Amino acid sequence: MINFKKIIADEISKITNIESNEIEGYIEVPKEPENGDYAFPCFKLAKTLKKSPNVIADEIKSNIQISENVIEKLEVVGGYLNFFVNKETLALEILNEVTKNKEYGKSNIGEGKNIVIDYSSPNIAKTFHIGHLRTTVIGAALYNIYKYLGYNVTGINHLGDYGTQFGKLIEGYKKWGSEYNLEENPIEKLTEIYVRISNECKEDESVLEACRNNFKKLEDGDKECVELWSKFKDLSLKEFQKVYDILGTKFDSWNGESFYTDKIGEVIDLLKKSGKLIESQGARIVDLEEYGMPPCLIQKSNGSSTYATRDLAAILYRARTYDFDKALYVTSYEQILHFKQIFQVAKLLGLDKKYTDGLEHVSYGMVLLETGKMSTRDGNVVKLEDLLKEAIERAKEIINEKNPGLENKDEIAKKVGVGAVIFNDLANSRIKDEIFNWDRVLNFQGETGPYLQYTYVRTKSIIEKAGGIPSFENIDAKYLLEESSSKILKLIYNFENILIQVTEKNEPSILSRYLIDLAKAYSNFYNENQIITEDKKIQNTRIFLTYATGNVLKIGANLLGMEMPDRM
Ligand code: ARG
Repeated sequence: MINFKKIIADEISKITNIESNEIEGYIEVPKEPENGDYAFPCFKLAKTLKKSPNVIADEIKSNIQISENVIEKLEVVGGYLNFFVNKETLALEILNEVTKNKEYGKSNIGEGKNIVIDYSSPNIAKTFHIGHLRTTVIGAALYNIYKYLGYNVTGINHLGDYGTQFGKLIEGYKKWGSEYNLEENPIEKLTEIYVRISNECKEDESVLEACRNNFKKLEDGDKECVELWSKFKDLSLKEFQKVYDILGTKFDSWNGESFYTDKIGEVIDLLKKSGKLIESQGARIVDLEEYGMPPCLIQKSNGSSTYATRDLAAILYRARTYDFDKALYVTSYEQILHFKQIFQVAKLLGLDKKYTDGLEHVSYGMVLLETGKMSTRDGNVVKLEDLLKEAIERAKEIINEKNPGLENKDEIAKKVGVGAVIFNDLANSRIKDEIFNWDRVLNFQGETGPYLQYTYVRTKSIIEKAGGIPSFENIDAKYLLEESSSKILKLIYNFENILIQVTEKNEPSILSRYLIDLAKAYSNFYNENQIITEDKKIQNTRIFLTYATGNVLKIGANLLGMEMPDRM
């Protein structure tokens, strides 16, 4: 597609002798339409060219050579050069591109770069809860978007399948296992055992000691401990898979914490070599006082590894195995300190700076529940599977109400219910806490997943009403120049740029907001223009725009991990 930014940058570069890439980096997209489609802030070059911004602007303006078919107007305003692109050229270019290209916005800018995303990563034998939904959904969206931009992406489910809690579970199971039928509702049962043994630990130091020993034994490969642990793990994974099946989540690697058991030794050796591993009350730590952080516990006094050590081993392993340019960790902000610590300690492992620079914690806010609703027996942990099932159920109720005759209701209810939950998690800047409210999540009119789906379905039905998609030759760009159409086109044109912004900030909500803007722009266009109309040239053009909008809505929603129904 025609790249206006680049054309402008190349021209300015010719005149100023400054690298086109640098110029392109300065070009802005003005917020107000009266400032044009692109603006070049001339003050950026004032220092280098030793001229005032206004002089630079005038010089560029009088020397620039861009066809009127590309840029139709150029204005100097307060040190800015404002470019107005030729609307007809742009409109046709965009429409042609979106409709002939099934994968509009896809690119290869990430080619040759490796991205590792650590997401979801629930803990074995614990409820897969609503907090893990966010990491699963944010991680999956980032995964899709990086991939779409040509990066080589590896998605890792760093399962919490190790740690002293397994020593406890093993102890509890040895004591009372026969009382519980694990097959039935494994995670609930394991949680009960865990709570029971934890209480006993509080009262009896010797029980706690036995639990700690179990974990040490597990790390050392003791047969009985390993067998029990595998059993807990298998049962839990089966449960987790139910959620992943509903969400459509996939991973390239399931290497959880336990995978690093035999890789801990090297971490300890490297840290020893760095001279920073120090003994403290029988344990080994790395002191981080100079960075204003508490020490990082590397090895417990009984020789056991910690969550942090296993993460350090994972960094080493991932650097070697995936040669990552970026390694992202998607967890709640509760773990900010943990990641700061391990990213600091990772610098002692002798890795290339490329790797330690590529580590990034993608943190997100909490999901808060409105009290009274959705709470389970223990008050606040909501099982993800239940939540998703409820979403589907509720979506079905709404469909039954609005469109009782709809075919394949179950399938559509699933797309709508799950899509609503996914979108809700991605709708706002990830660091914000989120208050989960069913009415808001499933509101067809709000800034929600169902609203996007509804808009998409509307584009489909209008196209159907018009008898299908007209051929490109039968449209006329002059009908695309009114405001509501050009707003849509501008958004569509910006799609790839939006995807790039998502990866720059690891912020899928940039795409979510964009899709809402696009859906709103379409609704506005729909309200202001008659689409099915006497004049076939006008109708064809508007249908074509409708088709283009639908394509982008669908591609974008799919990248977020949502499925789009054709009817609803
Ligand atoms: N299992 C952890 C939890 O549920 C998340 C793990 C995140 N990934 C990591 N490499 N530490 O809180």
